[in-house]
Amino acid sequence: MNQAAKTLLERIKTDGAIDGQVIKVDLFLNHMVDTGLMRLIARELANRFADRQIDKILTAETSGIMLAQAVAEELDVPFIYAKKKKPLTMVDYYAAASYSFTKQESTTLYVSKEVLFPEERLLFIDDFFARGSTLKAIEEIVDQSHTVLVGKAVIINKGEREDVESILTMGDLK
Ligand code: G4P
Repeated sequence: MNQAAKTLLERIKTDGAIDGQVIKVDLFLNHMVDTGLMRLIARELANRFADRQIDKILTAETSGIMLAQAVAEELDVPFIYAKKKKPLTMVDYYAAASYSFTKQESTTLYVSKEVLFPEERLLFIDDFFARGSTLKAIEEIVDQSHTVLVGKAVIINKGEREDVESILTMGDLK
């Protein structure tokens, strides 16, 4: 197990909790944020994509943003966060709906046409992969924008998709 995985697992044991399928990480990942831990996780994930010619990182509001920024710094590329509310200044945009089973609500993700260009190579980043509805919406935006999704990476992969890179899976938490 790599250092990022060991450190995160230890932190979940001391400061987190696992309640069935829901992992409480809001003392270090998605409410109060341990930037050192985030950097360690970002370095591990960025290393896996270092030679993949990533042009931009793409994530979704809100909790994906901190990791996306940390990975973007490591790879020295910009990151984009899809917005859940369309700003007045966003005139031309790509949009896709996503239903969160965890939160039982539907949201639409918006990305301005000014920030994505055809053929650009993107890396999707998020905190959790659960049912995959966020990734599905992101994949729709990738299709609409004729960009290329080179990779997908999250901190904790709770799903079955093996093409989603992660630091920990549900199996590691048992
Ligand atoms: P999906 O994106 O893979 O489809 O998953 P799902 O709809 O089931 O739930 C996604 C939302 O729930 C995400 O937040 C994600 O961060 C959060 N989530 C999923 N599993 C867990 C978990 O085990 N622990 C915690 N703490 N959160 C979890 P979101 O609604 O996309 O938005 P935001 O909270 O980032 O704003």
